[in-house]
Amino acid sequence: MSHQSEMIASDIHSYLKSQEVKGMLRFITCGSVDDGKSTLIGRLLWDSKLIFEDQLAALEADSKRIGTQGGEIDYALLLDGLQAEREQGITIDVAYRFFSTDKRKFIVADTPGHEQYTRNMVTGASTADVAVILVDARKGVLTQTRRHSFLVSLMGIRHVVLAINKMDLVEFSVSRFQAIREEYAAFAAGLGFADITVIPISALQGDNVLLRSGRTPWHDGPTLMEYLETVDAVHEIENQAFRMPVQWVNRPDLDFRGFCGTLASGRVQPGDEIVVAASGKTSRVARIVTMDGDLDEASTGQAVTLVLEDEIDISRGDLLADPLARPSFADQFEARVVWMYEDALMAGRRYLMKSGCSTVPAAVTALKYKINVNLLQHEPAKRLELNEVGVCNLVLDRPIAFDPYAENHTTGSFILIDRISNATVGAGMIDFALRRATNVHWHTEQVSRDIRAALKGQSPCVIWLTGLSGSGKSTIANALEQRLVQLGRHTMLLDGDNIRHGLNKDLGFTEEDRIENIRRIGEVARLLTEAGLIVITAFISPYRAEREMVRNLLPAGEFVEVYVSTSLEECERRDVKGLYKKARKGSIPNFTGISAPYEEPLSPDVTVDTSLVSADRAVAMILESIGLNR
Ligand code: ADX
Repeated sequence: MSHQSEMIASDIHSYLKSQEVKGMLRFITCGSVDDGKSTLIGRLLWDSKLIFEDQLAALEADSKRIGTQGGEIDYALLLDGLQAEREQGITIDVAYRFFSTDKRKFIVADTPGHEQYTRNMVTGASTADVAVILVDARKGVLTQTRRHSFLVSLMGIRHVVLAINKMDLVEFSVSRFQAIREEYAAFAAGLGFADITVIPISALQGDNVLLRSGRTPWHDGPTLMEYLETVDAVHEIENQAFRMPVQWVNRPDLDFRGFCGTLASGRVQPGDEIVVAASGKTSRVARIVTMDGDLDEASTGQAVTLVLEDEIDISRGDLLADPLARPSFADQFEARVVWMYEDALMAGRRYLMKSGCSTVPAAVTALKYKINVNLLQHEPAKRLELNEVGVCNLVLDRPIAFDPYAENHTTGSFILIDRISNATVGAGMIDFALRRATNVHWHTEQVSRDIRAALKGQSPCVIWLTGLSGSGKSTIANALEQRLVQLGRHTMLLDGDNIRHGLNKDLGFTEEDRIENIRRIGEVARLLTEAGLIVITAFISPYRAEREMVRNLLPAGEFVEVYVSTSLEECERRDVKGLYKKARKGSIPNFTGISAPYEEPLSPDVTVDTSLVSADRAVAMILESIGLNR
């Protein structure tokens, strides 16, 4: 069992070769310090004569220098999965440790077990084949055991070890062991695990960790290490249908065109037929090219360049697949989402969704429910807070190819990115595609927006005024509309009076309602531009995300953001409607500037502070910005 780490120093080539042929198992340990998790990991690493992390770093440097693609001992292995999230800049603290025995290499993801670390656990579990769930023999199945098990099943891990630790503190009692095993089996029945292996251990004293314990003669199952060295979790993904997201198209000259990517599942050989999931075009693999020469076969996890027999249209983000087991292709689906960000997920808000190599604008259309991760109950919700898990519907701006997460973890998972901060805000698992109502078609009308605009002799746009209540938006908007009409323009003004008393009279001032308020106003404004009108809007619109959403609804350049930047002090001093006074007294909840946020525009087209400039001057500035200052 002991590991020949001396070989690293003496003969790195043989070492790398021997590592290449060994299988790799990734697992996650779930439990808290109290359960003995650190002790267990420490013992596994120590007893198996681990490669220490500094040795691994040296090994990595060596393998790079030698150019063996790291002999698969490659830090990419430690960092893939939700890697995009790291590129996006939040650090989720998961400690990955590498160790190796004569039979296998292991990567163990070690994450804190408390509820506030749910996102860390989900990140660690996203790449794991096996979960080792620790319980303290004295305490048995606890709330956190249930939470960990649920998250592990949520991430699609099918092989679970229930390690009942601290058996030495219950005198290696078989009845205690059996009672915990039965309680856990009853609870886990609905979680969809393929197998649950229950092992009595003492991490502190070493019983059944590597070596069989003399103190549990009644245990006829494996030790933890025997299990980890033999569990057959690794081959499952290789036996799935072939999938390869195209990371980039390599076209150094006219004679060579290769599609580079990492096999997400299955295997591929020259001669195999493949299909481009989006277009349905098929071809055959002519060559599998790598740095070390052509291959006869590539399997899951390998990074290769495929050369095809035919010239077919393929670009970055396309998914190549087995034509006999094609992925889904849709722009709406139901997914489970784990929220990883301080600002809550809101139904109606738009995000970027990144799946494989494609990134597409997406909106959460409905949050169906959230899941209480401790009680495993569904609860109604309008938002998902940090570390919460929910089920929602998503709509994309264009369809993507994917598999349900249950069938393929790589092609069935995605991350959500905040469009403004560019931070990763959530991780998701696709359940299934939803079909759009097939009898509703977007009519390509005979009379186009261009014709309508040309008849009016103008270029439509939306002049979007944003700012605090009482900042002067409506005054400017009215003056602007009068001026435009004098100039012979065709206009429409949308403001609180005609919207909040009519179309949006069902909405209040919670964050969710304001998002919906602006979404509807944005859609109406867009329709009015289709009619060829110059649209002026005057709403607080306190969130950047929704203002950006409206900008993105319109053709480039047609959204003119006017920030009425009059200070809170000045607005409050004016207090035209007496609302600030009431808000200060606490009688108006969620009042912008007082008890609800206002997010200033970052690069508005026009900024006007009405304590410094007159409404007429503001109108002139706006007209100038749209080229109508005659
Ligand atoms: S928005 O935030 O959803 O864009 P909107 O511009 O439609 O707000 O409505 C703002 C107007 O509603 C304010 O000028 C004020 O007269 C009134 N109002 C009532 N309650 C609130 C509140 N809690 N916060 C801000 N404005 C409020």
